[in-house]
Amino acid sequence: MITPSVGFSLSQWNSYIDGYSRICTSGAASFLGTGHRERRILPIRDGLGNQTRGQEGKIAIEFTLFENIMIVLGIETSCDETGVAVYDSDRGLISHEVYTQAVHAEYGGVVPELASRDHIRKLPVLVKDVLEKSRTGLREIDGIAYTAGPGLAGALLVGTSVARSMAWALGKPAIAVHHMEAHLLVPMMEDPNLEFPFVCLLVSGGHTQLVHVSGVGRYQLLGQSIDDAAGEAFDKTAKILGLGYPGGPALARLAEQGTPNTYKFPRPMVDRPGCDFSFSGLKTFALNTWNDSGQTEQNKADIALAFQDAVVDTLLIKCKRALESTGVKTLVLAGGVSANQALREQLQVFGQEKGVRIAYPSPQYCTDNGAMIAYTGSLRLMAGESHSQNTYTVKPRWPMIELGPPA
Ligand code: KG4
Ligand code: ZN
Repeated sequence: MITPSVGFSLSQWNSYIDGYSRICTSGAASFLGTGHRERRILPIRDGLGNQTRGQEGKIAIEFTLFENIMIVLGIETSCDETGVAVYDSDRGLISHEVYTQAVHAEYGGVVPELASRDHIRKLPVLVKDVLEKSRTGLREIDGIAYTAGPGLAGALLVGTSVARSMAWALGKPAIAVHHMEAHLLVPMMEDPNLEFPFVCLLVSGGHTQLVHVSGVGRYQLLGQSIDDAAGEAFDKTAKILGLGYPGGPALARLAEQGTPNTYKFPRPMVDRPGCDFSFSGLKTFALNTWNDSGQTEQNKADIALAFQDAVVDTLLIKCKRALESTGVKTLVLAGGVSANQALREQLQVFGQEKGVRIAYPSPQYCTDNGAMIAYTGSLRLMAGESHSQNTYTVKPRWPMIELGPPA
C-alpha cells in the first residue's frame, strides 16, 4: 500500500521506513499513555500519480500516517445536529461546536430534506469557526473523520462530501466513522482510566442496545430494542403530553414535578429471558393513561414520572443481566438518553451496591456532537486505520457488529 514516491532515493526511502516502524511503535506507546511528542510524514502515492512534496511544478499531496500525536477534525451530520470538533490525542479536545436545528420543531419530528439543507447552510460556518477557535491550521490536521452512518442519507451526504473534499484537497486521510461507535467510545475521551472490557448501554433516539466491548471495533451485541428505541419512546410520549420536539429532555424536566407512584406503568419484556427491549407499548400506555386522566398539569407531570421510572427500571434490569452474563464489572452509558439524570442516578446506586463501575459522558457528549466523531477518528487512525476508500458512500443502515478493529 505504501510505496516510495518519485524524487526520493532508496536510502531516503529506507530512512522513512525506519521512521515508519519507530512511529508505529511510539504511536502504540502514546496510545497507552507513555509516548513522547514526535512528528513525521511518510511520502506515499495517493492513487492520482506520483505527486509529492519535493517535486517542482507538481501539486504537493501527501498522506500523514501513524503519528504518535494525531490532530483530527470531526464532522457529524447524521440527523438534526451539526457538530464539528478538533481533537488532539496529546492535548485532548481543543474546540467543538454543536448546532441543533430548530427548523423541525413545528413539524413535530425531523424532516430529512430540511435537515440536509440546514447542514449545508451551517457546516462550512462551523468548520471555520471551530478551526479558528482551536488555533489549528488546516495543514496541522492529520485526518478528517466524518459520520458515514447510520442516519439520514441526505444529511450524512452533506458531512461526507465536505469531509472527503477537504481531506482530498489537503492530502490527508478521510476516516468514515460509525455514529453509534462514536457514542460508545466517547466516554473514554473524558475518562482516560476507563478500560476495556466493558458493557455499554447505548441509548439514543434511534437505537437501544447492550453491547459487550472488548476493544475498538470489537463489539458483541447482547440485546437491543425490537421496536422503538428508548429515546424515540421519550419523544413520542412527550408529544402525547404536548411537550414539543425533541421531547426527551422536556419530559425529564416535567417528571421532576411528578408525585411518585401515582401511576404504575409496565416494565416491558422483563419476564422474558435475555437482554432485548420493547418500548412501543409504553407510549400507548401513556396515551391511554392521559386520556383517562383529568388532563391537569399535575396529571401530566405524574404520567411523565411514571413513564420515566418504567424506562429507567427496565433498562436497569437488562443492564444487570448483561453484566451477570458477561462477568464484566464496568458499565458505560452512552447516547442521548444517557443524559437523563434519573437513569444516571439509578445506575450509580446499583453500581455502588454491587461494586460495578458506572461511567457516562458529560451531558454535552451524550447527545450528538462532533467531538465523539473526532475522538473515534483519532483512535482509529492511531491504531493504524487508513484512508477510507469507500468514496462518497454513506450507510443509512449500518449494524455496528459489521465493524471490526482498525484496518
Ligand atoms: O444520541 P442522540 O442525540 O441522537 C441519536 O443518535 O438518536 O439522542 C437523541 C435522543 C432523543 O430521543 C432525545 O429525546 C433523547 O436522546 N434525550 C433524552 C434526554 N436528552 C436527550 N431522553 C431522556 N432524558 C434526557 N435528558
Ligand atoms: Zn446519536
